[in-house]
Amino acid sequence: MRFLVTGHTGFKGAWLALVLHHRGHEVSGLSLDPAPGSLYERARVGELVAADLRVDVRDAGAVRDAVAAVAPEVVLHLAAQPLVRESYRDPRGTVETNVMGTFNVLDAVQRAGGVRAHLVVTTDKVYRNVGQMWGYREPDPLGGHDPYSASKAAADLLTQSWIASTASVVPTAIARAGNVVGGGDVSPERLMVDLLAAFSAGTPAAVRSPGAVRPWQHVLDCLDGYLELVDALLDGRAAGAAFNVGPPASSCLTVGEVATQVAQRWGTGASWRDDSHGSHPPEAGLLTLDPRKAEVELDWRSVLSLEETLDLTVDFARRVEAGEDAREVALAQVAVVADRAATRRDR
Ligand SMILES: NC(=O)c1ccc[n+]([C@@H]2O[C@H](COP(=O)([O-])OP(=O)(O)OC[C@H]3O[C@@H](n4cnc5c(N)ncnc54)[C@H](O)[C@@H]3O)[C@@H](O)[C@H]2O)c1
Repeated sequence: MRFLVTGHTGFKGAWLALVLHHRGHEVSGLSLDPAPGSLYERARVGELVAADLRVDVRDAGAVRDAVAAVAPEVVLHLAAQPLVRESYRDPRGTVETNVMGTFNVLDAVQRAGGVRAHLVVTTDKVYRNVGQMWGYREPDPLGGHDPYSASKAAADLLTQSWIASTASVVPTAIARAGNVVGGGDVSPERLMVDLLAAFSAGTPAAVRSPGAVRPWQHVLDCLDGYLELVDALLDGRAAGAAFNVGPPASSCLTVGEVATQVAQRWGTGASWRDDSHGSHPPEAGLLTLDPRKAEVELDWRSVLSLEETLDLTVDFARRVEAGEDAREVALAQVAVVADRAATRRDR
């Protein structure tokens, strides 16, 4: 099947291109240039994609032309400015990319014709955060205290209204995932990236919010959930709906607990220090997702435990640092998680 992934040069998008390649699909991508040292570069993902397009999603005409040229059967829209702290520095750019970029992709997909499934990726941060102990569910109100969260909530609402007002010509669904981790992320100011960089350099990692609680999910589990949703759309289910794509409650831990577990896996010399007294823009203290709708309606759930998630993440970093080929390491991890997911489905 012919897939188009927006954001394929990014962390999730590069893994997604590898997963789709592993599953035998034709993949094209539409993004900005990859960050230096990204998984996209290290695993030479560009060699595996049919059309490797550099298009700014803010440019409506260019997006329209690109989608028409690829003529995809399935579109996964991941391209975004995805960082909370960057959104404080550049709120306008964040809103333009995340809101108008999503509008441009929805419009281009509708005009292209022939798209059989469209998944729009938002985030757990779309929920109006009221500090509740239990996970947010899909009907909960959306909101956003920082520009990133607000822009993704707006993109989510925009997609909902697009689905309703265009009579769902293209079966479209929304996926809301939480913090994902895995090898190959290079985005600054993300916990795992900061931890692994500090451990590799032999310095203590500065951790901004050790008390903050998050759901931790491996990127391959998250992508498996996205593709389960695509399968549901192709089967005539899930159109018009939003789904949380999250790990079980046992994978919701504080940032500090995760930092300690990653340091233990890295081994000698790895440590972290509490940097919560530094000057940081506000971020949510407690944010968890309730994944039960996907479990009940799609029979989908994460297959990796938190321990396995952290094992795979540290193992990837260690192997690539030791000089192993990043594409081979990544594809081996893709195969492991695919086998686990297939076994779960067969049960
Ligand atoms: N990583 C996470 O923990 C996480 C959690 C929840 C949701 N998400 C969502 O998942 C998606 C992917 O996140 P990621 O972690 O891979 O981010 P990333 O920063 O690694 O990748 C972002 C991708 O979007 C592309 N992009 C950015 N601005 C663009 C523009 N103006 N035009 C075209 N392409 C543009 C980049 O080139 C890149 O390919 C985003 O929509 C993000 O909001 C990520």
